[in-house]
Amino acid sequence: MKEFPVMDPREGIPILYPHVPSNAGKYIEEVLSTRWIGQGPKVNQFEDEFSKKIVENGYSVAVNSGTSALHLAYILAGVTEASEVICPLFTCTATNIPILYLDAVPVFTDISKSSLNIDIDEVETLITSKTVAVCVVDYGGLPNDYIRLREICDKYGLRLIVDCAHAVDTYRNGHHVTHYADYVIYSFQAIKTMTTGDGGMLIVKSLSDYENAKRLRWFGIDRASKQKGVWKNDVTEVGFKYQMTDITAAIGLASLEELNEIFQKRRCLYQIYQSCLEEFGDLLLEKSDSGSDFTPWLVTLNTKGKRLALMNHLREKNIESAQVHYRNDQYTIFQDYAQRSFPNMDKIEDHYLVLPLHTKLKPEHVERICDEVKKALR
Ligand SMILES: Cc1ncc(COP(=O)(O)O)c(C=O)c1O
Repeated sequence: MKEFPVMDPREGIPILYPHVPSNAGKYIEEVLSTRWIGQGPKVNQFEDEFSKKIVENGYSVAVNSGTSALHLAYILAGVTEASEVICPLFTCTATNIPILYLDAVPVFTDISKSSLNIDIDEVETLITSKTVAVCVVDYGGLPNDYIRLREICDKYGLRLIVDCAHAVDTYRNGHHVTHYADYVIYSFQAIKTMTTGDGGMLIVKSLSDYENAKRLRWFGIDRASKQKGVWKNDVTEVGFKYQMTDITAAIGLASLEELNEIFQKRRCLYQIYQSCLEEFGDLLLEKSDSGSDFTPWLVTLNTKGKRLALMNHLREKNIESAQVHYRNDQYTIFQDYAQRSFPNMDKIEDHYLVLPLHTKLKPEHVERICDEVKKALR
């Protein structure tokens, strides 16, 4: 296993840490010595390489963040004012905020009983004549049951959007998420499994969505025709300034080179957590079910009433822990859409806690963290 530079344990153990690939500086310098530092050939190259390495089916469109990718996905899915989007209650607010950009209605879905992903059994009960799309997040990296979601979306003519901000490699029954979903989005924000500092990728299935996405990320302008020097470029739709730059793409290309090692390291550390904390049974909320394969981004424990005590104990030992994300119905911006109860979320709300997982950790760090968890929870 490739060893990445390790943090100094005297500095304590941070919960998340950026993985800056070793060639990032070199590739950025190369870009800085060229004419293109904004969106140029490196963005195209990054999209091509990302498609080759990650995507099973679809076209890659690089943007400046995962949130921008989600905004474009909702637009392409046909979400407009008053449309309803079935979406996760428990996720980063970034999954659901773009629904509000469009004056559409987020319809929250409870988490399941066994993971932090949505309860798929709820989805059909939430569909109305206004429902346009179902959006799910692969929480902590754990793949949803895309097969069931696809069946439901096909039955009701809905678009399936998967927010893969937490994971790059999510498989169900041997197929990558891009085999199942209409739109998949990725985030390359600072502390994600694969980072470009900030950045995102939108995967679409049809050529027309691909062309539309590329126009929408650039003010609504057809950039390819504009670059031919044709001045008569009408803009018929309001687009955004969401494009990725070549500087960002250079880091992305360096990240892709190290991705296999990143996956391997994260999986290995996660397995140590699993074996060291086995005695606590269902402590790890991102436990894989049969048919799923993924690289974890978060390790989440069910502290069973001892969250504060555990957090304080770990803090004394210089080990960071946090909740990271919060149920979205507690935010004022979502108050109008939070009219019902979510029993599964209620049960876990005061108990979940995220432990450190990143490539700066060594197996010894994880063993030390687990020892401290055991002391505090026993
Ligand atoms: C689940 C989820 N969706 C979307 C996003 C948004 O990604 P970005 O920060 O790249 O806009 C994030 C994280 O930031 C996230 O955790």
